[in-house]
Amino acid sequence: MSQFQQKVELICFEALTEDIVRLTFNAPKIAAMARPGQFVMVQTSPGKDPLLRRPFSIHQVIRDGHLQILFKVLGKGTELLAQVRVGEQLSLLGPLGNGFTPGSPETACLVGGGMGIAPLLFLATRFLSKSSAAEVSPKMPMVILGARNRAELEPLVDDFRKVGVDVLAATDDGSFGHHGLVTDVLTKSNLPPGFGIYCCGPHPMMAAIARLCQQESRACQVSVETVMACGMGACLGCAVPLKAGGYAHVCSDGPIFEAEKLLWSL
Ligand SMILES: Cc1cc2nc3c(=O)[nH]c(=O)nc-3n(C[C@H](O)[C@H](O)[C@H](O)COP(=O)(O)OP(=O)(O)OC[C@H]3O[C@@H](n4cnc5c(N)ncnc54)[C@H](O)[C@@H]3O)c2cc1C
Ligand code: FES
Repeated sequence: MSQFQQKVELICFEALTEDIVRLTFNAPKIAAMARPGQFVMVQTSPGKDPLLRRPFSIHQVIRDGHLQILFKVLGKGTELLAQVRVGEQLSLLGPLGNGFTPGSPETACLVGGGMGIAPLLFLATRFLSKSSAAEVSPKMPMVILGARNRAELEPLVDDFRKVGVDVLAATDDGSFGHHGLVTDVLTKSNLPPGFGIYCCGPHPMMAAIARLCQQESRACQVSVETVMACGMGACLGCAVPLKAGGYAHVCSDGPIFEAEKLLWSL
């Protein structure tokens, strides 16, 4: 698999909320190879602090080799990234990781929570491109997204609707969509047997969905996030335990795993 380390120019900066930012880079080489579920390692500072690149899912690949990431400001690296301005250059390494294995759009259910929504827009557009125009229904793939409140969720839901996908929404405070968790919405949706789940979000959400899928013998792919140092299988700092014993490395074996293969701690 090809990976590139590229200095890329920021061509669009969007602050979706006070602390959620979307960056669009002109990154033709990485964009051309990228698959949904893969990630890039981003150098957040030209100096040595922070020394390590930070991992971000590829949020979307758009025409002309443009690649987007979507992130929430958490610490030093993301604070610096939120200060980058259009025209500046950053070093990106990618695309990294395995990516989702998409099945049929007619039997796909995408479930995202918080910044875990980031990789699912790319996956949804890939599903749409797999269907012929005549087959596309606004309900396929099915998408369930959750976040803390309307301000965090609505702009992201709009993005899915713009590409032609319906979304079932849930917020913790009830300000947009269902008042509660995405898992409530998933349970109430009575997903037919044969539908597979593609999931990314906070660990407790993914653990709950993994449990549900196990009870229903349903296929479930999860996108796992850990702290990463190298992103390329060299430091062994991103280990997650496997049900069968031993460990997998999120950067090189993942970040996408079949949920049933992982040992869930909740
Ligand atoms: C494969 C992968 C894809 C990712 N995709 C996205 C994305 O699309 N959007 C996004 O906002 N974030 C994403 N993340 C998480 C993102 O990498 C971290 O938020 C970022 O590295 C934080 O850097 P920082 O320097 O701002 O914070 P730091 O100063 O490094 O940390 C600040 C706080 O955040 C915690 N933290 C750091 N990394 C993580 C993590 N991976 N999971 C949970 N807590 C963490 C730290 O423990 C600390 O408490 C992804 C992570 C991985 C591994
Ligand atoms: S981050 Fe270094 S091995 Fe995964």
